[in-house]
Amino acid sequence: MGFKLAIVGATGNVGREILNILDERGFPADEVVVLASRRSLGVEVSFGDRTLKIKALEDFDFRDTDICLMSAGGDVSKEWSPKIAAAGCVVIDNSSAWRTDPDVPLVVPEVNAEAVRGFTKKNIIANPNCSTAQLVVALKPLHDAAKIKRVVVSTYQSVSGAGKEGMDELFNQTKTVYSIGQMEMKKFPKRIAFNVIPQIDTFMEDGFTKEEWKMVVETKKILDPKIKLVATCVRVPVFIGHSESVNVEFERPLSADEAREILRIAPGIVVQDRREPGGYMTPHESAGEDPVYISRLRDDPTVDNGIAFWCVADNLRKGAALNAVQIAEALVNRGLLGNRKRAA
Ligand SMILES: NC(=O)c1ccc[n+]([C@@H]2O[C@H](COP(=O)([O-])OP(=O)(O)OC[C@H]3O[C@@H](n4cnc5c(N)ncnc54)[C@H](OP(=O)(O)O)[C@@H]3O)[C@@H](O)[C@H]2O)c1
Repeated sequence: MGFKLAIVGATGNVGREILNILDERGFPADEVVVLASRRSLGVEVSFGDRTLKIKALEDFDFRDTDICLMSAGGDVSKEWSPKIAAAGCVVIDNSSAWRTDPDVPLVVPEVNAEAVRGFTKKNIIANPNCSTAQLVVALKPLHDAAKIKRVVVSTYQSVSGAGKEGMDELFNQTKTVYSIGQMEMKKFPKRIAFNVIPQIDTFMEDGFTKEEWKMVVETKKILDPKIKLVATCVRVPVFIGHSESVNVEFERPLSADEAREILRIAPGIVVQDRREPGGYMTPHESAGEDPVYISRLRDDPTVDNGIAFWCVADNLRKGAALNAVQIAEALVNRGLLGNRKRAA
């Protein structure tokens, strides 16, 4: 007997991708229920060769549901995750609502899969921010090899990281550039079409943005609190796929050639690194793909033990939906979920 799953936010970018990934990976689900706001009542979404009808979150009884994959933003999660968890259903949440809660594990299965065992305190597991997820997959094997001291990362984040409204804004602004019309800015603080914006999320007192702060605290929680990290997060006019320029400084010597060999056999990573035009990965090519791609590996001559590289992944997959499904698999594979008695 398989499990009963609920997907909250099933009409959204991440929710739809979760449904694709559950189907592709043959997740042992007996029943999948798709939920969203009342606005979407009756809307149809695809799950493999089937079509499922959206139900309203607020009308759903979670008592016989094993896992809830939650992708409806922080406010919805803050209100609903504790109620769903209290009904005995394990919540895997994609928002930032629970990531820094000490009683909630923050998990990237390639890095700290065993941490899922900590879900029992609140019945909630958090999925990291999209830019953190792909970064820690790349950092983990390097940290094991030479102990990371410091990371400097600049991100180039796609508009799908801001939900379906972010994608619509890039599309509509791009059309407006080539026709007569009003350039509307609703989701992003400046025009995103043919532009880049050095702000993701709100500003904090120290001048960093919340997205940059999230990368720092989440990397420490998942990988190692001793790692020093500084981030600059930038929105770029790309629909899907986040890119990162990463500089890493180690305690012990590690050359770019050694790092390349380590990364080649690391879980979840594909090294695509030929020193010729086009011998690297771009975000457009990563869309729809599962791996974290590493390119442009080279020694950093400005520090004693340092390398630089380029890191690309599909933010809707490894940055959100795939990671959430991998967490559900980690629970199932460890036998941590008993099948719940179904309501008659
Ligand atoms: N996109 C990424 O790269 C990424 C990466 C990591 C984490 N995340 C996180 O994942 C979550 C979803 O992101 P997304 O990109 O999929 O956003 P999205 O495309 O805007 O979709 C939002 C989803 O939430 C639902 N929703 C909104 N208010 C609701 C309510 N009151 N009750 C029930 N459902 C409600 C929406 O349903 P309706 O259609 O009915 O409005 C929709 O299905 C966010 O927390 C985001 O921060 C996203």
